[in-house]
Formats: sequence, structure tokens, C-alpha cells
Amino acid sequence: MDRIRIRGGNRLNGTIPISGAKNAALPLMIVSLLTPETLTLSNVPRLADVRQLQRILQNHGVDIMVAGKRPGQTAKQGDVKQLSARTIADTTAPYDLVSKMRASFWVLGPLLARCGEAKVSLPGGCAIGTRPVDMHLLAMEKLGAEIEIENGYVIAKAKRGLKGAHIRFDKVSVGATHAALMASVLADGDTIIENAASEPEIGDVAECLVKMGARIEGIHTATLKIRGVTSLHGAEHSVIPDRIEAGTYAMCAGMTGGDVLLKDANAGHLGSVITVMRRAGVAVDQTNEGIRIYRNGGALEPVSLDTEPYPGFPTDCQAQLMALMSMADGTSMIRETIFENRFMHVQELARLGADIHLHGDTAEVRGVKKLTGAPVMATDLRASVSLVIAALAAEGETMINRVYHLDRGFETLEEKLSACGADVTRISGT
Ligand code: EPZ
Repeated sequence: MDRIRIRGGNRLNGTIPISGAKNAALPLMIVSLLTPETLTLSNVPRLADVRQLQRILQNHGVDIMVAGKRPGQTAKQGDVKQLSARTIADTTAPYDLVSKMRASFWVLGPLLARCGEAKVSLPGGCAIGTRPVDMHLLAMEKLGAEIEIENGYVIAKAKRGLKGAHIRFDKVSVGATHAALMASVLADGDTIIENAASEPEIGDVAECLVKMGARIEGIHTATLKIRGVTSLHGAEHSVIPDRIEAGTYAMCAGMTGGDVLLKDANAGHLGSVITVMRRAGVAVDQTNEGIRIYRNGGALEPVSLDTEPYPGFPTDCQAQLMALMSMADGTSMIRETIFENRFMHVQELARLGADIHLHGDTAEVRGVKKLTGAPVMATDLRASVSLVIAALAAEGETMINRVYHLDRGFETLEEKLSACGADVTRISGT
């Protein structure tokens, strides 16, 4: 397994290109199941999760072509992928594939909508929580599907097709909103989705569906109105920049000090993160090339907050903020309200000298003057990058093990950081 060695203390100066959003690319690829025509996606990030989803879609019969390099294209630009689900060869998503990348469970809606049936493995829990899918199944039943659970699989049938419905989610769920949206675009009649998630990635998928011929109103709001159509056609769509990656590198720069341009980052998607960075004493400027982050010597101020659904502070940046606050000049209270077990980075940060005390869903982060390097273990995607942030400011050497977690969601992280002056090296493992 690969490891990453970081020697801390260097300021970051330069430009970091922000890749296409993982959490938009994954549902956008799944949307290809809804049409026999070709969906061309550009700015697709080169990530382990994208490669895993490709395997799942190919198992359903989707042909996936990755375009070769075009004149003038640089390695920093994402892949162009053409996905063609001319026919669906298999409506089963097997456990051995779904268990490796839980968002693949989201094929349920499109398979039901396109084929009238689906057999999808339950994704099971994961490191950060039990992560049930009851709201996904409720939405499918509202749209007229018959749902059974057998031997760890969801068996869904809608032989007479799906029917438009009024779906109101009790709480905000990104995945359940994707499922309901993807299923309803081919349903017979009108669907309303109330209390829908309004993350930018949902809007990106909805805009792509409209390009494919879907009829959707209320995009980027908490109430989506869909008028079902009989079929969708191919389209071309570019994946939005990754706001979580951008927020992560903003905290890297805030932690080390320096001056970094997050190229192509969309400030409109990062409102709450930008506000928090400024409260922490980090300067943030929006430019026509992206977002400029700089801090020259001033102390980091403590910031207390709750994670919330968009547009609140994203849970996917919680671990990264905790690393930043571990060296603030005071105490921060960070409350995780979305997932029940998203504090696994705390023990690893403590190994680097962070002083963090857990009180149920709230972490009390008492800022320290110094962190010192040590061997640490990555446990999940965003926890692993919080260790990178801490290691960048820690004295001495940090070795981060199990970096396959990082590779799921951060494209060429060590190259992007090294290009700005960080001492970061990937050590290929046995
Ligand atoms: C998406 O996960 C993201 N994944 C997560 O990012 C992100 O943390 C999460 O949304 C919240 O923003 C992708 O987009 C691929 P939810 P998802 O449904 O859809 C509960 C990352 O690091 N819930 O919004 O699984 C659930 O347990 C990943 O990139 C139910 O109770 O999250 C959680 O407490 C991690 N029943 C809350 O809702 C359901 O049927 C929000 O979960 C569904 C969810």
C-alpha cells in the first residue's frame, strides 16, 4: 500500500488547479443509464471512485470511451468520457462491486426508470456511519415501484413504469434526492420533490438532465418539479469544479501560510467555507481565474460551527477544518450533525500533538502552538486529507499510511501540493 511522507514547515505559494467534482461526476456517469444515446462528460476527475463506478456501469452494459489527448490539452484538465448505454445487459448491481463504492447504489433509480426492474446490493455501512438508504426506497415506492429486500439486495420492480408522485423528504439527503430526480424524469406525469438537497452537485446533474431533454423546474432550490418524458437523448456536459477539493486546499494554504490561487474554483459554491476561512483570519479573494487564499504570519483565530446541508458548512470539510483549528489561537467547538461517526481523524490528529476532546457530536479543539510529525493512519477519505493538512504545518516528518483513501477523492494531491512548495512524497508500498 502506498504511503505519503510529508516534512512540514513550508509555506505554500503558487497555483493549484481544481479538478472536476467527484460528487458530481459520479451521479452524472450514472445518468448515462437513462438513454440509449451517448452522454459525453468533460472535466471528469481521474479518481479511484470514478474508475470503480466505470466497472459497475460496464457491468450493466454501458460502453465507456475515454477520449485521447487533444492538441493543447494539459494533464491538469479532466478526462472526456463518452458513455453509451445502448442497451442494458444486466439490471443487477452486485455486492462485490457496490460494496467498494457506495454511490453506485444510485443506479437503482435509472435502472427502474429505464428497464422497470433492478436488483441492487445494499451498500452496507461505512467508516463514517450506518448510512441507511430508507429514503431512497421510500422515493422509489412513491413513484410506484414494488420494493423487496432479499439476501442483502434491493429487488425493485415497476413493470408498468413509474408514475409521477409528490415526494417529501423528512430530512435532507443528497443520495435520495439524486435517486428521486433520476427516476422521475422518465416517470409518467408530474413529480414534486420537497425538502430536496440543494448541493451544487444536484444542480449540475439536473442541468445535464435538462440538456438530455428532461423537464425540471426549481433547479438549485429545495423544491424540484419534474414533468416526466418518454425518453431522453444524448448530450454534452462539463463537470463543475470540486468545491470540497477547493475548500481542502484553502485550508492547506491557511495552515501553512503563503499565497495560493485555487484555479477554476467556483466561489459561488464555497460561500460558507469562505466565510469560515475569513473568520479564521485567512484572506480570501475572488479573482476571474479562481479563488486566492493568503495568510502572511497572522495568528489563526478559533471558529466554532455546526456542519449543515448546503449552503451550510459542508460535513465533507469538517475534518479539514479541525486540522486547521488545531493550531488556532484559542478553542473551537465543531459539531458534526450529518454523520454519526465522522471523528475518526481525531485520534490520528492527536498523534501529531493536537489537543481535541470529544463531547458526543461535538469536538472541542484547543489550539496548540506546535504539531510534531509522526506515523499516522488514514481511515476514510476526508479524514485522511485532514492528516495531510496537519502534517504540512507539523515540525519534522509525518508518514501517512493507507493513502488509497486519499486517491478516492483527491487527484494527484502530492503533485498539486509539491508544485506550491510543500515537501510531499508518495512512497509506493508493497
Ligand atoms: C453524499 O452522501 C456525499 N457522497 C457525501 O460525500 C456527503 O458527505 C453527503 O452526501 C452529505 O453531503 C456523494 O455525493 C457521492 P446523504 P450521501 O444521503 O448521499 C442520512 C465524500 O466524502 N440518510 O445526504 O450518502 C444519512 O445517514 C462523501 O465525498 C438516511 O437516514 O449522504 C446521513 O446521516 C462522504 N436515509 C444524512 O441522511 C437515507 O435514505 C445525509 O446523508 C439516506 C441518508
